[in-house]
Amino acid sequence: MKKTFYVTTPIYYASGDLHIGHTYTTVLADIMNRYKKLMGYETFFLTGSDEHGQKIATKALAENLSPKNYVDKIVEKFKNLWNLLDVDYDKFIRTTDDYHKKAVQEIFSKLVEKDLIYKGSYKGLYCVSCEEFLTSEQINEEGLCKVSQTKPEILAEETYFLRVSQFSDFLTKLFDTNFLTPESRKNEMLKNFIEPGLEDLSVTRISLEWGIPTNEDPKHVIYVWIDALSNYITALGYGQSENSLLKKFWNSKTEIVQYVGKEITRFHSIYWPVILEGLGLPMPTKLISHGWILAKDTKMSKSLGNVIDPIAVINGFSSDALRFYIAKELPTERDGNFTEELFIESYNTNLANNIGNLISRTNNMIVKYFDGNILEEIDLANHQITNLKNQMIANYIKEMNDYQIHKAVDIVMRFSQELNKFIEDEKPWALEKSGDTKNLAVVLKVLQESIAVIIHLLSPILTKSYSLMLNQIGYNKPLLNIYELESGKLVFEKINDRKIIFERIN
Ligand code: MSP
Repeated sequence: MKKTFYVTTPIYYASGDLHIGHTYTTVLADIMNRYKKLMGYETFFLTGSDEHGQKIATKALAENLSPKNYVDKIVEKFKNLWNLLDVDYDKFIRTTDDYHKKAVQEIFSKLVEKDLIYKGSYKGLYCVSCEEFLTSEQINEEGLCKVSQTKPEILAEETYFLRVSQFSDFLTKLFDTNFLTPESRKNEMLKNFIEPGLEDLSVTRISLEWGIPTNEDPKHVIYVWIDALSNYITALGYGQSENSLLKKFWNSKTEIVQYVGKEITRFHSIYWPVILEGLGLPMPTKLISHGWILAKDTKMSKSLGNVIDPIAVINGFSSDALRFYIAKELPTERDGNFTEELFIESYNTNLANNIGNLISRTNNMIVKYFDGNILEEIDLANHQITNLKNQMIANYIKEMNDYQIHKAVDIVMRFSQELNKFIEDEKPWALEKSGDTKNLAVVLKVLQESIAVIIHLLSPILTKSYSLMLNQIGYNKPLLNIYELESGKLVFEKINDRKIIFERIN
């Protein structure tokens, strides 16, 4: 039986256009999903939209639209963006989907039945922009929410609570495992929320209409975060009669990876595990909490008005260029920068001067010296480059398995640099001049094979250019999985055409 892999992105608020920060999370998930396919896994990739809550209701009102009409328009734009970025998700969930709403009501009822949810009353500060009740830790000296920089509302109402405080031991044990990465975020959660003592979470609102009502007490609408977090299982069929996906992908044998940004880590590392445990479901394998993309040192966000539009980047450059920048230049452990200068510099260094140049030179020489096809029988098993290549594949796999996409890309880039240097050292043009056809064939063949491997390893990232790249070195078969690559023995065809793949940007 095939190994199974399930990856999710947060579901984005359908409150406005998405920016580069959102594409970051989704592209990482897409790359990981494509990588797992390359490794022979059966995979499922979920993304979607978070459509309830006060912020969205207010925005719709301002545009004279019903909330549903408002979110319908936005969701079309989300899907269009993922399409432009070649994001190959298996399912797009909307929290306004009927099956989701019913399943959320069932989740709520189940937690009430287990006495994990009880009725009480709440008084405190609520940030509408973050859809979150704030603790004193989350408010700055001017009384504003530290994340959104907006003034929270005072809220006092009857509410149902989730007994989070009962789960102290459970969460302490969970945080002893490697489920949340990076370590720094884990320590932050422990220090700010778990060690000081967990508080029960208010999970319904009576002053909100645009949301899912509870079955027990319909004037109570389910808090957006409970509604939203549940998407990861309702999308697979939780609470529905057809739940074969749930059986296949939400179990302790499946590698379940959830990507989230750092500001929503608390919801995913504390409340989500509590809900899962309450429902008797296993924990995800890995919660990857990434940093923010900054624009001039502050978080890029709609409410701060400093966003970069991904569609402009895709139109100005290409989706592959954007995907590559995300993969290579934005390690998840820390905040990263996105500026046009950095973007162009990375593109030129890596894609134009390194990979593009390597492919173009090799293509050129195979066409010029062998009429596009090296027909000599050559055994490359003990060649120094073959050894380097195999080591490189192993290192790449190690980093990818550890979700370190940027390190894996770096390993491939360094190998590509080695190959460019190998060309300088071996001087194929001199071999040709001296009539040493045998060694000339060896040099070009080992380059051709190595480049085919590079292209395969970058295929989860460079989705649009990979077949063109392969074609440029005479490989026209469907993508191989990684084990087939390691065994070597690639069969090449005659190279006919020549194109520049990653043109330098000036
Ligand atoms: N709807 C909630 C998530 C519910 S998941 C059950 C939400 N939506 S969001 O639209 O505000 O943002 C979702 C994701 O986008 C988060 O992972 C967040 O970190 C990410 N980003 C938003 N701005 C970002 C940057 N500037 N940089 C990196 N990621 C950013 O929260």
